[in-house]
Amino acid sequence: MYIPRLHPNTIEEVKQRADIVDVISEYVVLRKRGKDFVGLCPFHDEKTPSFTVSPTKQMYYCFGCQASGNAIKFLMDLGKRSFAEVTLDLARRYQVPVQTLEPEQRQELQRQISLREQLFEVLASTAQFYQHALRQSAGQKALQYLKSDRLLKEETIQQFGLGYAPAGWETLYRYLVDSKHYPVQLVEKAGLIKPRKEGNGYYDVFRDRLMIPIRDIQGRVIAFGGRTLTDEQPKYLNSPETELFSKGKTLFALDQAKSGISQFDQAVVVEGYFDAIALHAAGINNAVASLGTALSLEQVKLVLRYTESKQLVLNFDADKAGNNAANRAIGEIAELAYMGEVQLKILNIPDGKDADEYLHSHSPEDYRELLINAPLWLNWQIDQILKDRDLKQATDFQQVTQGIVKLLKNIVNKDTQNYYISYCAEILSLGDSRLIPLRVENLLTQISPASSYSQPVPLKRKAEINQASQASPSSSERGLLERAEGLLLRIYLHCPEQRQTILNALEERDLQFSLSHHRLLWQKIFELPIQQVDLISNLQDSYLESSEDLSLISHLFYLNEKSKKDIMRTPQVVQAAITCIELVMCEKRYRHFKELWEATDEQAEADLYEYYGKAFLAEKLRYIKLNAQRNFSIEEVLKYA
Ligand code: CTP
Ligand code: MN
Repeated sequence: MYIPRLHPNTIEEVKQRADIVDVISEYVVLRKRGKDFVGLCPFHDEKTPSFTVSPTKQMYYCFGCQASGNAIKFLMDLGKRSFAEVTLDLARRYQVPVQTLEPEQRQELQRQISLREQLFEVLASTAQFYQHALRQSAGQKALQYLKSDRLLKEETIQQFGLGYAPAGWETLYRYLVDSKHYPVQLVEKAGLIKPRKEGNGYYDVFRDRLMIPIRDIQGRVIAFGGRTLTDEQPKYLNSPETELFSKGKTLFALDQAKSGISQFDQAVVVEGYFDAIALHAAGINNAVASLGTALSLEQVKLVLRYTESKQLVLNFDADKAGNNAANRAIGEIAELAYMGEVQLKILNIPDGKDADEYLHSHSPEDYRELLINAPLWLNWQIDQILKDRDLKQATDFQQVTQGIVKLLKNIVNKDTQNYYISYCAEILSLGDSRLIPLRVENLLTQISPASSYSQPVPLKRKAEINQASQASPSSSERGLLERAEGLLLRIYLHCPEQRQTILNALEERDLQFSLSHHRLLWQKIFELPIQQVDLISNLQDSYLESSEDLSLISHLFYLNEKSKKDIMRTPQVVQAAITCIELVMCEKRYRHFKELWEATDEQAEADLYEYYGKAFLAEKLRYIKLNAQRNFSIEEVLKYA
């Protein structure tokens, strides 16, 4: 196969986008340990994990065999593939536009690379210049502002490298071009000076402003935000888009926040530079600021890299631009939220304060408390829909219902959707619990006419219905049961120390294996005279007469690499599998009672009607509760079953 030489920009972009945890997770089961992830090393044989992956460094290292490198190196070594091959693959997988390298382009490239380096240098010099100016007499009022108005400590001012851009028109220009001899074009490309409209010459972009350096993930200055110290407009002036700086791809303070984000397993996104700075000063160092724009997908992915549970709290001003602020801020990530790929919470600080203002009169613990209590995005949205509405008024009721339907329609995960349907049904029932089943049905028909809960059930005679619901589970249920039950059996067979736990869990929740081949195996296990010794080989013997039965379950007798790793996480896996089985049973009973309820005449058999209504609601609520308890990783766990 011919593999073209890739353009360094393509390689660079691949390195940026291909997250190492993401790449390696495909081959190694990784568990979070502190800031890093650990797993069994794929490069040598081991029983206890010594293979470490660092999301912050984007590197892996094995303490056992010293294998180490980045994502590309990992794939090269694992698949014995070339650099170009792996990079090209990753480029395709992460949708990086592929540019190839023709010989004649190389010189041009060399030039571009050195341009970036020179830009970094100019910006670093400028940051120093601004910092220095803050300590001069002209910078006094700026320093005073930081200390008295913003209540910042010297330490924080240093940490963020805050500075002051002097008032003249050419102060920076003269420093960079005349004293430091940087080429004018370079300084212009850095976004620091602009050509005069009339005559020739250049003038400084930032004048008489408090300067906030914006850095990339590695901490290199790539741009500035400048806040006026007077009433001048705009209040904040930012560097233009440059070779190094793109607003929509940058988050302020991410370089300082990345370790905090891993540590708290959560990222807080605020609106303003000073909100982020104030949070860091208060020890809440998992905060970043968007740069006054809606959050882009890229920005969100950037922060989520550092969290395991993908928790993101948006703390945007609620009152300033009305409640639309957060909605607008959500930007492209609503889609991620609907897909459940980010656990998005919305924090509106009481009294319309921003984080900075809030911390002037409250403690860091108070803020942490707010973070903990912030509603999930969907709950927040529902609150917004309900705001200033009176559900007793017909028009309000109708509009709220429509709003809710529109909102819940987009939720991709059926379990989450069902949860919110019940949640909203309860709200719409206005405290009359008898109305809940009706409201649930009503929302269901409007939201997903074809969903499993709302399929129109042809009226059947009760006997038939009874029979129908005893019948075998549907195919998707079957798949889930096959995996969950199989996993549980496999653990039972291979992990003697887990057997009692499994027995207890099944008994406690009154659960049985639903699939007949699993029931048969379970029965055989208990028919064996001696339990603990050589369980598997004894079972194999007992299946000798019926090879057909054996073929359905024999895979449970063996462990491949993947299932071995899975089984290492047994306590969680047992719980996940049990919850899964219970969920399926619960849904089955729910459908059963609902069918009965629908087939019952409300007037003629009022008691029965009420009884079935209550019964299916009870199952529904149980289902919701289980779903809420259930670990987010259940699907993750069962994937390997
Ligand atoms: N912003 C911007 N350009 C503007 C105004 C604001 O880029 N013209 C961005 C800045 O990142 C700023 C953030 O939006 O930090 C919030 O600005 P604003 O809503 O004006 O926040 P305030 O809290 O009013 O700002 P401050 O606390 O500095 O008075
Ligand atoms: Mn503010």
